[in-house]
Amino acid sequence: MPAGEHDLVVVANRLPVDMTVADDGSLSWTRSPGGLVTALAPVMQRNAGAWVGWSGTPDLEHEPFDGEGMRLWPVRLSESEIAAYYEGFSNGTLWPLYHDVIVDPQFHRAWWNAYVSINRRFAAAAAEAVAEGGTVWVHDYQLQLVPAVLRLLRPDVKIGFFNHIPFPPLEIFSQLPWRRQVLEGLLGADLVGFQRESDAKNFLRAVRRLTDLPTRGRVVTIGERWARPARQVRAASFPISIDSTAFDALASSPAVQKRAVEIRKELGDPEVLLLGVDRLDYTKGIRHRLKAFGELLADGRLAAPEATLVQVASPSRERVEQYRQLRDEVEATVGRINGDYGALGRAAVHYMHHSYPMEEMAAMYRAADVMLVTSLRDGMNLVAKEYVAARRDLGGVLVLSEFTGAADELTQALLINPHDIDGTKAAIMRAIAMEPTERRRRMRGLRRRVLDHDVQRWAEDFLTALANPRPHPRPLVED
Ligand code: F6P
Repeated sequence: MPAGEHDLVVVANRLPVDMTVADDGSLSWTRSPGGLVTALAPVMQRNAGAWVGWSGTPDLEHEPFDGEGMRLWPVRLSESEIAAYYEGFSNGTLWPLYHDVIVDPQFHRAWWNAYVSINRRFAAAAAEAVAEGGTVWVHDYQLQLVPAVLRLLRPDVKIGFFNHIPFPPLEIFSQLPWRRQVLEGLLGADLVGFQRESDAKNFLRAVRRLTDLPTRGRVVTIGERWARPARQVRAASFPISIDSTAFDALASSPAVQKRAVEIRKELGDPEVLLLGVDRLDYTKGIRHRLKAFGELLADGRLAAPEATLVQVASPSRERVEQYRQLRDEVEATVGRINGDYGALGRAAVHYMHHSYPMEEMAAMYRAADVMLVTSLRDGMNLVAKEYVAARRDLGGVLVLSEFTGAADELTQALLINPHDIDGTKAAIMRAIAMEPTERRRRMRGLRRRVLDHDVQRWAEDFLTALANPRPHPRPLVED
């Protein structure tokens, strides 16, 4: 296949821009929220970068174009492909399987076939875009077959893969009827990155048990029976982060601080403001959080509206059945709590099913006394990091599920097992009663970590590791 012109190509399910259609039918694109594009924009500019991804709109056929200082390379998906590859295999099979089977994963051969063909389409686009000897960085569970397909098309390029979500334990991963094909897909990369050490270990264990490839430490050797020349694949953890400095500055701006005061006033100046911010996803433990808060009100340990919970749940994957069910359940529970404990004009839970601009989120973080992150399983959880980055005032307490990737780093948070409702209630009460000295000490430690380890450092660490494989102490062995 002829080489393209981009030294660095990022491949992700979505492009880093959102499309809007004007009344006259013309299209315009604006940068999507999120740290990934912020982290990668400078390195993309330095390396004549391209980003291959889906526009988010069905059936959109669009030539590659320039934006955000890089080449944006749309991949077309039809309505039925979105249903089978994105809503189906990615979010109805892999997402629940990789998140501890919180809901049942569904295994459908037609979804798998769509996943294979769409992964090939993304790989073909990357192969067309990347320059001779260039680098391709593939992202996330929707595209696990891209590395192997791309290697066949373009054996000259370096391939990195980063999984943003957990990699499940072998006993769960083994349920997947196409487990071997997925491993072979990932092993097309030179470096496979994960959020946590435990994810990298789960992956290596799956390789050991489900393939006959030799592994030594974190290195898998692909011998000449599989690949010529023989090569090595490394697995390692690279915990992702946020654009911490920018978020810290935003949250400390006079406008955001003023808005934080207004938010508390609009809520009737509660004594204690608790906050939850999530995509409306069953992995986030929103029902567990509401149960704990509802019980604290029922027990009389908290009283509303002196204690108020704000829950922002941004709409997500609304055509997937389990997400619809979750929405119904969460909304019924919020209604019940407000029916039982709210007062005229003063709700116990303020529930919002929208997304907000970053400035408004920063103001909410700044306003909240206690941040509740109660995920049942979460690759990282960037909301926890945003809360910490927003608290230059050293105010606020983070209650954090130990089942998030963030819990490995944010050890000064109050760590909880969200399945343990009594334990969660105790942590909430402890957060509320925490002495200012302890609160400040904990927040100072959390901030040190988040400000030192930002998303720019994450991207640099990954790309440096991909560019400079550490020499392996032993020569390659044939399998
Ligand atoms: O890593 C999880 C992830 O798939 C991200 O890539 C994405 O930003 C987020 O979840 C939202 O998912 P979706 O693209 O399905 O809306």
